[in-house]
Amino acid sequence: MENLISLVNKLQRACTALGDHGEESALPTLWDSLPAIAVVGGQSSGKSSVLESIVGKDFLPRGSGIVTRRPLVLQLHKIEEGREYAEFLHIPRKRFTDFAAVRKEISDETDRETGRTKQISPVPIHLSIYSPNVVNLTMIDLPGLTKVAVEGQPDSIVQDIENMVRSYIEKPNSVILAISPANQDLATSDAIKISREVDPKGERTFGVLTKIDLMDKGTDAVDILEGKAYRLQFPWIGVVNRSQADINKNVDMIAARRREREYFANSPEYKHLAHRMGSEHLGKMLSKHLETVIKSRIPGIQSLISKSIVELEAELSRLGKPIAADAGGKLYMIMEICRIFDQIYKEHLDGIRPGGDKI
Ligand code: GDP
Ligand code: NA
Ligand code: MG
Repeated sequence: MENLISLVNKLQRACTALGDHGEESALPTLWDSLPAIAVVGGQSSGKSSVLESIVGKDFLPRGSGIVTRRPLVLQLHKIEEGREYAEFLHIPRKRFTDFAAVRKEISDETDRETGRTKQISPVPIHLSIYSPNVVNLTMIDLPGLTKVAVEGQPDSIVQDIENMVRSYIEKPNSVILAISPANQDLATSDAIKISREVDPKGERTFGVLTKIDLMDKGTDAVDILEGKAYRLQFPWIGVVNRSQADINKNVDMIAARRREREYFANSPEYKHLAHRMGSEHLGKMLSKHLETVIKSRIPGIQSLISKSIVELEAELSRLGKPIAADAGGKLYMIMEICRIFDQIYKEHLDGIRPGGDKI
């Protein structure tokens, strides 16, 4: 039985691969309805670090200024064994085993779309990572919220980034991973400010507190982590990522995870919370949550898929016999995936009534 998250991943990729051909069908709506986790936060709040810790790999472009200038749809696929590798949707069939090359490709592909101008673009880059060390998860890394444009950027960039972030997190099916640094006042957190706008009750927002190790001596984050300072439906999670010095020294991610675990287990103030702190716990919890959300949305997704199948069949008979790699081939591929999904729904989720309640 295929995992639900990886199935939805396939649908997401297929919808994207279809590109323009999907515009007149129900597929764009389908893509919008697929649950995913959007990562939001101010610049340098630690978004890239959190993503890398969850993946356990060093692969995102870094630097000062606005590094993430296109959404990165990151799909993690757990494999049972073998060497980890990455694949981009825009370079099909090329397996990257060198993650420094992945970093370079993200950066080059960003420039291809934005023309090295430091502009931003809403066109996402799709990256899949296959590894025995990940949990099945889809996360979307978004440009960091900022207050001022830098040299060479139009003033509108501040508002453009905010609008782009909002367009992802306002979808009711999106899960918001709101990243705030512990060494700044939570009241000034860009992540909290924007997530509160679209999810005032905190029903689909996960609060992540980074840089706990960088707090002023004599202060701690216990009130926040216990949900007393700012309440969300889900428990807050604290993380300790690699510092800039660690990154410069190439401290590896596995060692960093171990150190993070020790940090929480050995701090008198956080000891009682240690079991629900850290990147590893964050990844597992998000994976579990995403699966729950997908399950509860399946009746809705399924009816869109049925609609897509009908439309695609009409489109296919119009195009004639499909040949792989052209539009017909892509439509055909999506239809196949829709059928698998349909099948899974029937076999696996018969016990779920519309609305998601178990019978
Ligand atoms: P982004 O702009 O939100 O993607 O932030 P980055 O992940 O690039 O982090 C910005 C800087 O903060 C980097 O130098 C990181 O090493 C550092 N950093 C992020 N999280 C932590 C943390 O938990 N502890 C420490 N000491 N440094 C961190
Ligand atoms: Na940031
Ligand atoms: Mg970043």
